[in-house]
Amino acid sequence: MASKAIQTVRAGVLDASLYDDLSTSALPRVSRGAILTALSRAFDLAEGRRPGHAQRVAYVGVALAEDLGLTGHRLEEVFFGCLLHDVGMAATAPVTRDGPTPLRPGARGLAAVPQGGWADVIEALTLHCEQGANVARRLGLGETVARAVASHHDCWDGSGIGANPGEKLTQVARIVAVADRVETMFDGEGSPLIVRRRGPRMVREMGGTEIDPELAERMATLASRDEFWLGFYDNDLAASLMGLNYGGVMGREELFDFLGVISDVVDGRNGRETGRGRRVAELARRVALTCDMPERRADLVKVAALLQDLGTLGVPAHVLSKPDILSIEEMGTVQMHPTYARDILSEVPGLGAPAWWVGCHHERVDGKGYPGMLEGDEVPVEAQVIGLCEAFDALTSDRPYRKAMTRDDAMEVLRGLSGTRFDGRVVDAFDTAEGPFTAP
Ligand SMILES: [Fe+2]
Ligand SMILES: [Fe+2]
Ligand SMILES: [Fe+2]
Repeated sequence: MASKAIQTVRAGVLDASLYDDLSTSALPRVSRGAILTALSRAFDLAEGRRPGHAQRVAYVGVALAEDLGLTGHRLEEVFFGCLLHDVGMAATAPVTRDGPTPLRPGARGLAAVPQGGWADVIEALTLHCEQGANVARRLGLGETVARAVASHHDCWDGSGIGANPGEKLTQVARIVAVADRVETMFDGEGSPLIVRRRGPRMVREMGGTEIDPELAERMATLASRDEFWLGFYDNDLAASLMGLNYGGVMGREELFDFLGVISDVVDGRNGRETGRGRRVAELARRVALTCDMPERRADLVKVAALLQDLGTLGVPAHVLSKPDILSIEEMGTVQMHPTYARDILSEVPGLGAPAWWVGCHHERVDGKGYPGMLEGDEVPVEAQVIGLCEAFDALTSDRPYRKAMTRDDAMEVLRGLSGTRFDGRVVDAFDTAEGPFTAP
């Protein structure tokens, strides 16, 4: 019987009904813009930013672009450039000449000074610009968006440290750079009342030095209107941005491909081989079918599996790559990752159920898992399928300290976890899943 404290946690935080949006009968018809609006909160975590930074940058960028008369595809390019400008921070842990884990313990993001000093800061900045541009390309958002991401730390006249120093920035890139710097300045001020009063003057002062003087003037005028500030501080900003549905609604294969790129980003951040997450997700879909789930529900299991470790973007890089045993505090941070991902994904219309499964993928049927210590049937079968496929793939992959296990040896390990980590029926279903496994 669970203690009262645990029951309280379950009731307040892990109430499955909160995520029951009846979405399990079909893949959601969701746009690229809606998904990336939600996922941008994970990119904020990777950069150590206050939640909503990328969304507010997108709001500022779109407002400025509209003020300049941009419409249609150009407007969407500004939107995606703003949302993704720092996705490169998520794509990889910053790397120095001496190898990974350059940040001081306890520090996160570019605000932290790497152990190697400012040379490493510049290297990390350049790297995340290039990595981010590659992610934008792989997501199919086009070269203009990729170039804007690559040059978001450049100065408006082409000087600076982006991917193409000396090259004059495109209009989209200049808008993205202005939006990022302006949001950072506004957010750093703290009090909305002070920002509202001083904002326009502060923006004008940045013109000609940090940002394009023409855009600074337009931005300052924009920032003198109450309407702009009501949007900037709107609690429903995420929903408004999702409602734009930029980038078009994705079909089944497009959605899998799109989320596969995000899965690769997370794999990179965790130091895993590219494609591992996609492999686990496809296996999870197959096992879900063996558990008698209909095709569409199995597709949703694949969606959840692709995004299962999205929340690790919120775990500091030095913790993720620490070769030693984690401290209790560090372990607590790592164990937040299902919760981060669940909260982020549950914002996307139609992804309530996968968000719940992702939130439970480290639960155990014996009640010793995290974050909610759910027991027995409380642990969703879908979450168990994801956890089982992840464990199988880990066992059958080479590790620095051991060779990959054979399929039979891995199955023996998993059978040993029946009744503790997993429900024995799910392990049996896994064993009979059709199709070839990747293990030797
Ligand atoms: Fe950046
Ligand atoms: Fe930023
Ligand atoms: Fe995980």
